[in-house]
Amino acid sequence: MRRVFLLGRGDFEEWRDAARALACAGIAPEDIEWCEEGGEKQLFWERDALPPQPTAAIRAMTVPPAFIDLAAVVICHSDPVRFSLLYRLLWRLQSDKSLLDVPSDEDVSLARLMEKSVRRDAHKMTAFLRFKEVGSGISANGRRKFLAWFEPDHHIVVRKAPFFQRRFNDMDWVILTPKGSVSWDGVRLTVSHEPCTKPDLSDPAEELWKTYFTNIFNPARLKIKAMQAEMPKKYWKNMPEAELIPDLIANAEQRVLAMAKREATVPRPFHDRLQEAARNLPSVQSAIDGTWEALREQAADCSRCPLHAKATQTVFGEGPQDAEIMFVGEQPGDQEDLAGRPFVGPAGKVFDEALSAAGMDRARLYITNAVKHFKYEPRGKRRIHQKPNRGEVEHCRWWLDRELEQVKPKLVVAMGATALFALTGMRQKLEDVRGEFMPIGGGRQLFVTVHPSYLLRLPDERVRQEEVQRFRKDIARIGTALASSG
Ligand code: URA
Repeated sequence: MRRVFLLGRGDFEEWRDAARALACAGIAPEDIEWCEEGGEKQLFWERDALPPQPTAAIRAMTVPPAFIDLAAVVICHSDPVRFSLLYRLLWRLQSDKSLLDVPSDEDVSLARLMEKSVRRDAHKMTAFLRFKEVGSGISANGRRKFLAWFEPDHHIVVRKAPFFQRRFNDMDWVILTPKGSVSWDGVRLTVSHEPCTKPDLSDPAEELWKTYFTNIFNPARLKIKAMQAEMPKKYWKNMPEAELIPDLIANAEQRVLAMAKREATVPRPFHDRLQEAARNLPSVQSAIDGTWEALREQAADCSRCPLHAKATQTVFGEGPQDAEIMFVGEQPGDQEDLAGRPFVGPAGKVFDEALSAAGMDRARLYITNAVKHFKYEPRGKRRIHQKPNRGEVEHCRWWLDRELEQVKPKLVVAMGATALFALTGMRQKLEDVRGEFMPIGGGRQLFVTVHPSYLLRLPDERVRQEEVQRFRKDIARIGTALASSG
């Protein structure tokens, strides 16, 4: 039995050199006892020299790059079994190159677990380490000095040091941990494996930080379980804001209620601006006699229903005012709301593809929506589309009627149920009326098809492809019908 002593501490090269020499000498995993220097057993063991490394044998030894990546992380784990586990994997990989692709293998699975634990620890270090300024003001080299204390589970300090160097490059800092320390002075990263003790880190800026944390804590988005999973209690003792958390959680409900009340009473600046514009509106009636441009300008300030308050802008119809075909969708989506133009987002892409497959020129069509403002629900950074309700569609029908009067299309195409309702007042199953040319008075025809967003939502790829083809056929029929009507 050979005993190999390593310092450990996450030093991959140290383990790699030893493992390479042992493997090239043909020493099997079961004949090696791996020990961490400074560990208890050291007192009873004698250091065995590693075998000399035969260069040709080293060249013959290969491992997949995925093993190097895995080993470089697992070696940071604090469990002493990591050395023997990695050696076993290295040994077995010589005869089975795809061993790492077998997640159910005991060694592979243990290594993956250890890898996950190290990565998690490293992530926690970047998330929960708190620097505190030490000394007063700027030091001789013109830089401020900071100190941090962190208690990692594994040997991750050296591994994470470059991250802190990049992120806090313009300050001098020292990170102390029970597993060693690392410091940065603007020129050099210095690492020490000497265990450190916790320094006194009382800091006058702490109160400021706590005030800031209280203010950014959003009670409406509180998810206690997720928060506890992400920020386990063992990290709390070194995070000044942690002492606030129990109270913030306890008062969350009250604060949400207070926020809801505030939101109802404090008008948003955007809302204010629109209401101001609405007060200065010329009478809407005048638009009927005016040009389409005047109509569009008035619609820009529309506040007929509450949707205007949250939307970026009114998305009015666009296209030639003598267009023979008018397409009507539901309401602008996220991208249309930002761009101020209908059908320029993902649904617009599906629509455009169908038009070009049918050889139709978008520039010759008038394209609009039943509702002219984007209705959505904020969810994090995303704005999730919401279907407009009956009242919103009815309020907005005023603008659609004006567009119909102005453009006088021969054919109106309702894309989806909302457009059908806005144009006819009918709440009907689309499939019952889809694909028919129906007279709707004034010598005008109505054609009904699905909304392009419906196609984007279909989960089954095969069904989606079929439905896209059906939609394209509908669009092609519109083109043909118009061409034959002269
Ligand atoms: N969906 C619509 O109904 N209209 C648009 O303009 C975009 C997406």
